[in-house]
Amino acid sequence: MTYETLIVTTEGEGSRRTGLIRLNRPKALNALNDTLMDELGTALKAFDADAGIGAIVITGSEKAFAAGADIGVLAQHDFVKAYTRDLVTRNWETIRSIRKPVIAAVAGFALGGGCELAMMCDMVIAADTAKFGQPEIKLGIIPGAGGTQRLPRAVGKAKAMDLVLTGRMMGAEEAERAGLVSRVVAADQLLAEALEAATIICNLGTASVLAAKECVNRAYEGGLSDGVMFERRMFQALFGTPDQVEGMDAFLNKRPAVFPRG
Ligand code: CAA
Repeated sequence: MTYETLIVTTEGEGSRRTGLIRLNRPKALNALNDTLMDELGTALKAFDADAGIGAIVITGSEKAFAAGADIGVLAQHDFVKAYTRDLVTRNWETIRSIRKPVIAAVAGFALGGGCELAMMCDMVIAADTAKFGQPEIKLGIIPGAGGTQRLPRAVGKAKAMDLVLTGRMMGAEEAERAGLVSRVVAADQLLAEALEAATIICNLGTASVLAAKECVNRAYEGGLSDGVMFERRMFQALFGTPDQVEGMDAFLNKRPAVFPRG
């Protein structure tokens, strides 16, 4: 399949590879229009359905992961159009529905919907050039793809309020200290680092990887007692899988685990 706004490839060797999606609207700093969001949903769903893919990396360019929703499009909205057609925000639930781990590899600007897209991924690895922010307030609007909800969960109320109310940008080091980013690396190492993390995930057991993602998302989205009970049931359920048998046998016999595929 060819895409207008994405470059989609697979990386790595063997029975499990990484799906790599590069946002590609360089003239607009990867601003997220409906075409891009639709294509991103299609590419993510295809990788999620492909048994040969174990993890997905989303990245942008050196200058921008994504500078937000396309303001040229937003400027043409009125309430009725935005509400009835769910413009700009219509495809975001697709990203949330992806079951395989998705890593955002962020260099340059991750603003507005770009920051929200990164936050919807399971891990954010940032180049030291990355700049995160929710500048919508400066446009007379507020974040519309989860920014007011995910940012406080990621960085706490104090910093979220600071960013959402002032619209200022936060650099990679601050974002890592605040908990938005899991690792910061030199810009020229960004993709290699993200692909290395993805390869590690690709080589792990499928059921335990999916269960781990689902459980952490429970913690992030729901209450503590529900989350702990959900985790307990998933933990127990994994004792019925070949991955568990192989992983523990390998440990006890001091050999590397080779997880079954299929
Ligand atoms: N939408 C559309 N076009 C955008 C864009 C956006 N979000 N961000 C940048 N561009 C375009 C610029 O218009 C410019 O196009 P032209 O060359 O045709 O003029 C091109 O990308 C390069 O941008 P700049 O010349 O502005 O580059 P810069 O280096 O001087 O500044 C920037 C970079 C600070 C990121 C600046 O472009 C900027 O502030 N962009 C807007 C960021 C923003 O407000 N994002 C939030 C959007 S609203 C949203 O996302 C809602 C939501 O929650 C879903």
